[in-house]
Amino acid sequence: MLKKWWHNTIGYQIYPKSFQDTNGDGIGDIRGVIRHLDDLQDLGINVIWLCPIYKSPMVDHGYDISDYDRIDPMFGTNEEMEELILEADKRGIKILMDLVVNHTSDQHEWFQKAMADPDSEYADYYIIKEGDGNNPPNNWRSIFGGSAWEKIGDTNKYYLHLFTKGQPDLNWENPKLREIIYDMVNRWLDMGLGGFRIDAISHLKKNFAYVNQPADGPDGLASAWDYFRNAKGLNVFLNELNEKTFKPHNALTIGEVDDVRPEELGEFIGDDGYFSTIFDFCHTQFHVKDKEWKDRPLEMIRELRERLFAKQDYAKGHGLMCNFTDNHDTSRSVERFIPEAYISFYSESLLASVNFFLRGIVFLYQGQEIGMRDYQKKSINEFLDLATFNNYNGYLLKGMTEEEALEKVNNECREHSRTPMQWNDRKNAGFTEGTPWFEVNPNYRRINYETQKKDENSLLSYYKKMIALRKREDLEEAFIYGDTIPRYEDQDGIIAYERRYEGKRILAIHNCNAREIRLPLGDEIGEILLNNYEKLNVGDGNVVLSGFQSVITKLI
Ligand code: NOJ
Repeated sequence: MLKKWWHNTIGYQIYPKSFQDTNGDGIGDIRGVIRHLDDLQDLGINVIWLCPIYKSPMVDHGYDISDYDRIDPMFGTNEEMEELILEADKRGIKILMDLVVNHTSDQHEWFQKAMADPDSEYADYYIIKEGDGNNPPNNWRSIFGGSAWEKIGDTNKYYLHLFTKGQPDLNWENPKLREIIYDMVNRWLDMGLGGFRIDAISHLKKNFAYVNQPADGPDGLASAWDYFRNAKGLNVFLNELNEKTFKPHNALTIGEVDDVRPEELGEFIGDDGYFSTIFDFCHTQFHVKDKEWKDRPLEMIRELRERLFAKQDYAKGHGLMCNFTDNHDTSRSVERFIPEAYISFYSESLLASVNFFLRGIVFLYQGQEIGMRDYQKKSINEFLDLATFNNYNGYLLKGMTEEEALEKVNNECREHSRTPMQWNDRKNAGFTEGTPWFEVNPNYRRINYETQKKDENSLLSYYKKMIALRKREDLEEAFIYGDTIPRYEDQDGIIAYERRYEGKRILAIHNCNAREIRLPLGDEIGEILLNNYEKLNVGDGNVVLSGFQSVITKLI
């Protein structure tokens, strides 16, 4: 594997709307990110991914872009964006933006022109088809629920939107449109951006055999994934995008890619892959409150362990995966992985550590470093996101009561991760002087950055220690490139792995049980690199790990 500049990435994802407001309008802004660059440097990160801040009507919180070249005034100006890139650079931090090119906003000039004149060249920038009699062209369900087609005025034509109807899909078959997109990407990279996180990129290619699929829900629609996810021919677009933009800029690119077949991984993230790395969610989709796992949390841990190790295995020899647990599309990992009664510094630091020392690059999501939690709502009306409402209505359609549907949404909805960042224990958690766009979690008096910064034993301080360890000069390469060898797989609730690199051996061992566990090890233990307890009990060739103890140690 060729060595690349970004291999030592410790990334930090910012949801700008909820990070820091500096002008009192209740919405986070670019100045807010600049204000906290020193804190982020102090944490130890070296890459920031900003969720979309381009001009947008915000139907999908910025994932509906109406002008790719302009920063939305709610976040600031293009000049402030340039300042952010420069200021971050001074602190050794690269900025990634979100690249959303599967779709635009319906307010984008191209779409407006396409609607005004269906014979204009702009109509071919989108996917517009004749209806099937009085019905849409086919029965595909949008990813956010409802038909994926929207009728255009009083014509019998429809446009495709895989997400909300405010997000019409672009027609990547159109070579002129592709060139326009590449120029836009290059303009941003030329400005000094480190790269992009690339949104919904597996959907660029659609299979144009618009046949109806057997309905798979009471709405009579079908989730026709095979026709619009990783469809045959996607590779041509991805390759061209890379060759004409990312590659000449040596950019760091992280594709949001679901469901890559292991045998194709090399094409995606190999030395000459379409992307540097990918966010793959297969290990994040657990919830201890789900019926399936509620009474058998240890089996969930076993399954999680299998998925993590399988991923380590199939990435080996191809490239580096992205190690993450949280993002703006998931509820908080603490809630997903740790049963309520067991949430504590020990279990939280253990959860962080499981992920942190695997082979690959690391990405955190704002608030994860202080253990921010989900904010359960008492009514569906307290939510704001279209996807939440669509899911809720879908559950009602499936026959759930309102209470059951609310409970489900409260457990799984992505809005939990979008509550404002909790900086301190003062008004609005220090996020804004105004009225926050989304309610601050009232637990901010207890869980906040300022309090944890002062406490050497806080979760925040533990994250700093983990980052410092990953960057320790003599160990950094071992953590990035070393092989991952699972250990103690026969032990319930243990996630342990050895990292081996050029004669070095490091063991990461995590006791996910609430009770003490004894494991044969003692003689091999070398320098203890990190421990979330004060002591490690070693004796008679064994270690005794306390409940939720996690230890990183050199082996001799
Ligand atoms: C994935 C993004 O992460 C999500 O927030 C968004 O709603 C969809 N793509 C559509 O752009």
